Amino acid sequence: GKYRVVSTKSMPGTRWINLLIEQDCRLEICTEKKTILSVEDIIALIGDKCDGVIGQLTEDWGETLFAALSKAGGKAFSNMAVGYNNVDVNAANKYGVAVGNTPGVLTETTAELAASLSLAAARRIVEADEFMRAGLYDGWLPHLFVGNLLKGQTVGVIGAGRIGSAYARMMVEGFKMNLIYFDLYQSTRLEKFVTAYGQFLKANGEQPVTWKRASSMSEVLQEADVISLHPVLDKTTYHLINKESLATMKKEAILINCSRGPVVDEVALVEHLKQNPMFRVGLDVFEDEPYMKPGLGEMKNAIVVPHIASASKWTREGMATLAALNVLGKIKGYPVWHDPNRVEPFLNENAPPPA
Ligand code: GLV
Ligand code: GLV
Repeated sequence: GKYRVVSTKSMPGTRWINLLIEQDCRLEICTEKKTILSVEDIIALIGDKCDGVIGQLTEDWGETLFAALSKAGGKAFSNMAVGYNNVDVNAANKYGVAVGNTPGVLTETTAELAASLSLAAARRIVEADEFMRAGLYDGWLPHLFVGNLLKGQTVGVIGAGRIGSAYARMMVEGFKMNLIYFDLYQSTRLEKFVTAYGQFLKANGEQPVTWKRASSMSEVLQEADVISLHPVLDKTTYHLINKESLATMKKEAILINCSRGPVVDEVALVEHLKQNPMFRVGLDVFEDEPYMKPGLGEMKNAIVVPHIASASKWTREGMATLAALNVLGKIKGYPVWHDPNRVEPFLNENAPPPA
């Protein structure tokens, strides 16, 4: 291989490997046993000559790494993730390294996990499973694990991008929920979908579903029964959910987070869960991954899973393939594919505005 490409982790599937090997690349996959690589570990991997790197969301891609990659002749970096809050795109620009991410292929998989957590929280599935396994079930009772009916309730979505919109559609269509959403951009596609589905229900003699585009986040928090967070993590969304905003939510609301941990003030959330036993959460991400804030793991009204929202076989293979294509494309000087509805590789190179 003429080009040296490093992947900091082994990734699912073989297509991404073959793509690189068939195109003049010598691929090195790091086999280090420890889960999270430090900046020093990655500098050692980059070495003296490296044309491109495929990295992970757990790694700190800042000034130091882009300087090292550029010094080794590197032109491209791809995160194997849609979120890129771990990447300093300005630093990459400064060192002439193109940056890619892997949107599109994880939209439905991630939305399906948010939907799963919503249902699991509404129907207290994890608590009930623990109860059953603990041998505590001694007969049917009218009060046993009574939860919330989603039908006719309002689902609130904060951040109606690809994932937020897919989740909204699943909850509206699957469970006949009304929608309230907040996003800086209007999602006319989503609005049209809910309107058309509402008309369909009405024509069949059922209560139609409705939608509303909120003028603020707080409107969503106050009005929705189930709220799912899908914003990007940046300065404006850090601790979006905090003591004050939690206090404005319904006492029996359900909060889902499959975006990034720091969007929620986790200490404030634990306190809120303690004070409001009927308030339930489903969390895929945490403020200090892999750790949880003290007390969270003991709360019966919290469901916690280890950042697995994009973890379907199809999606993970797709993410690996896209990450490889991002790096390969730049190295080989291929034109970059800019279909805003599917992928937006090379965020710092003429990336289209969000669709
Ligand atoms: C996963 O968290 C991702 O951003 O793809
Ligand atoms: C990710 O695909 C998003 O923008 O929601």
